[in-house]
Amino acid sequence: MTDSIRNHWDKVYTRKAENEVSWFEDVPAVSLELIAAAGATRHSSIIDVGGGASRLADALLAAGFDAVSVLDISPAALESAKARLGPRADRVTWLVADVTRWDPDRTYDVWHDRAAFHFLVKPEDQAAYVERLTKGIAPDGAVIIGTFALDGPQMCSGLPVQRYDGATLAKTLGRSFELIETRRHQHRTPANAVQNFQFSRLRRVRAP
Ligand SMILES: C[S@@+](CC[C@H](N)C(=O)[O-])C[C@H]1O[C@@H](n2cnc3c(N)ncnc32)[C@H](O)[C@@H]1O
Repeated sequence: MTDSIRNHWDKVYTRKAENEVSWFEDVPAVSLELIAAAGATRHSSIIDVGGGASRLADALLAAGFDAVSVLDISPAALESAKARLGPRADRVTWLVADVTRWDPDRTYDVWHDRAAFHFLVKPEDQAAYVERLTKGIAPDGAVIIGTFALDGPQMCSGLPVQRYDGATLAKTLGRSFELIETRRHQHRTPANAVQNFQFSRLRRVRAP
């Protein structure tokens, strides 16, 4: 499965300019607000899962964060981000991996995911993600996941997505995560369409 997914995303990132993909955002404002709300400090370790060519890494570096990682299944996506960042790319840890098969060898204070988890539509893939999340998040760590909302689009990049609100997301992540807040967000695509997102912030709780 990994190969076909990677090929899909590599094609997208090779054929389209950064600001031609529907999920492009110049400033990842909601993500930055929620990372701040989680109490992250400049030395907090932050991983952007399915980060692709997002400008979140740029914004975090500019804000002084010094332990930023970006994971994505698509090498082309990460190459695009690195090219944009230039020498600043050396300050980011880049990880090419399918998150559903990845074996985190450390924990992170903040786990951020905008529009990657929602591509996992099979319960077994969602469970595999939650297993990696549970292993990769620090005790009391913050989890920020943005997905299409229940009234958002049913597809993205030609692929079906699973839509959530805060409650259904928290239920899918299970009892190891406590829902702290949910925000609705209207994303305006480069083609000027509006997509309804939900962003939820959760906290890793000690073993229930
Ligand atoms: C809609 S894009 C969002 C990218 C980025 N988070 C942003 O906000 O710009 C989805 C991203 O998830 C990545 N992705 C999809 N499935 C993945 C998987 N199983 N493991 C890791 N990354 C994945 C894709 O390569 C793509 O970069």
